[in-house]
Amino acid sequence: MQKVIQRLNGHLLFSRINHNLPSINTIRLTNTKNDLKEHRARVMARGLPEKKPLPGVKSIILVASGKGGVGKTTTAVNLACAMKVIEPDKEIGLLDADVFGPSVPLMMNITGEPMLNDDNLIEPILNYGVKCMSMGLLVSGENAVVWRGLMVMQALDRLTRHVAWGPLDCLVVDTPPGTGDTHLSLAQNLPIDGALIVTTPQSAALQVTKRGVNMFEKLKVPIIGLVENMSHALCTECGTVNYVFGNETKRTADEMRLEIIESFEVDQNMSECINSGKPAIYALPDSIHAEKYRHLANKVFKYIDDKEKEQVKAT
Ligand SMILES: Nc1ncnc2c1ncn2[C@@H]1O[C@H](COP(=O)(O)OP(=O)(O)OP(=O)(O)O)[C@@H](O)[C@H]1O
Ligand SMILES: [Mg+2]
Repeated sequence: MQKVIQRLNGHLLFSRINHNLPSINTIRLTNTKNDLKEHRARVMARGLPEKKPLPGVKSIILVASGKGGVGKTTTAVNLACAMKVIEPDKEIGLLDADVFGPSVPLMMNITGEPMLNDDNLIEPILNYGVKCMSMGLLVSGENAVVWRGLMVMQALDRLTRHVAWGPLDCLVVDTPPGTGDTHLSLAQNLPIDGALIVTTPQSAALQVTKRGVNMFEKLKVPIIGLVENMSHALCTECGTVNYVFGNETKRTADEMRLEIIESFEVDQNMSECINSGKPAIYALPDSIHAEKYRHLANKVFKYIDDKEKEQVKAT
């Protein structure tokens, strides 16, 4: 495993990650019945990991969905950029927490190996005024990442606590599909202010979305609302609305008592923009999509503001 990691990036940071992992021999040695009992007791006594804020980061918003390919990264990228557009004086960050399939570098048009600063922290890469960090910047392009749970958690720790994020008003976190190690690790270690749940309108997607919502409820992460993506397609000739993927989102949202904050139709221009590293918010600022992302960004700012006010009241 050590060789794999070193070959993947040849970077001191990640050889250090590996040094923290127990060797197979160590695992075998401690794997007797009594040792196991003691180990379990020690882990239970520790309880859940303490949620520690990220230095200099005021708020953290997750963009998530149980389902893959529904537009989480598209939403996270456009949201982060829209937040910067409507509040240029605020510092916005974008963390790509999808360590297996990072797509933020492509969609934000960022490349290059990040530098370490004097405090040994990784400097985020800036584009469109947004500070970005992604495993895609630390591992070369076509290499597949084959990591187990513990290593994913350590990689996330590097991407969160070993990056010079501060000062930031808001860190937007793009998450991978599913309800796995990444979500658990983020929710248990970071003070998440809220999650936006992205879904498409098919029953199959909504069913998985519900699972995602349940997971966040269990992890006590507040849900800001739903973002419906690829809600419908407009005929470019006659303007007819086609519900290509069905129209079930409203019913599911009502069942979960969640607001649909925005609905984005399927749009070829939007797809072309994001896949060429020019988010619609910049490439097509007058489009309906850009307007909707600005609305979404406003909603998120308001949510953060209201939450801060509530916290001040409570103290
Ligand atoms: N409203 C839309 N109209 C047209 N294409 C879209 C729309 N939203 C997203 N796409 C396209 O769908 C594809 C998947 O989007 P994206 O990568 O954001 O999904 P994801 O949920 O992050 O996927 P994954 O689960 O693999 O991380 C991208 O190529 C993107 O350009
Ligand atoms: Mg993605």
